[in-house]
Amino acid sequence: MSEKQNQSKKPGISRRKFLTYTIASTGGFLASGVLFPMIRFAIDPMLQKGADTEFVDIGPVEEFSEKPKSVEFHIKRKDGWYEPEGGEKATAWVMKTGAEVLALSPICKHLGCTVNWEGGGNPNHFYCPCHGGLYTKDGVNVPGTPPNGPLDVYASKVEGGRLLLGPIKQRG
Ligand code: FES
Repeated sequence: MSEKQNQSKKPGISRRKFLTYTIASTGGFLASGVLFPMIRFAIDPMLQKGADTEFVDIGPVEEFSEKPKSVEFHIKRKDGWYEPEGGEKATAWVMKTGAEVLALSPICKHLGCTVNWEGGGNPNHFYCPCHGGLYTKDGVNVPGTPPNGPLDVYASKVEGGRLLLGPIKQRG
């Protein structure tokens, strides 16, 4: 029997398979090095948004009514190495219908201006002065105006008669 025939009958892995596995695993390793940061960058904000935001006491719940009230508060949130002293300033339009509390972000979903309650002569609506955006009282964008989504909402809960706001969430 020739040496070549002997080699082909040797148990174990052939040179061709070894090279194929080596190239495939090296390629996979290099690809993961490129893809992992890209995927993490893409999904990290979704995972991080509000993940480490604590609930903040914004006052006695009976101070709120069906009429939206603008509230300013500070959220303790760490953004990478940045952790502002005294927290990050935030605002919300807060209203209460019966026992149900709704706390809306004032940031317009078009290009990020600040919406006002009943601004621009629009009764019972939130109005964005930048491009004439309109939202209903519950923060839903009015079709035919620039915003293409409803205002974000803060998580809320009542504890001991106090209203607490938490992480902000997107709707729609
Ligand atoms: S930023 Fe609000 S309508 Fe354009």
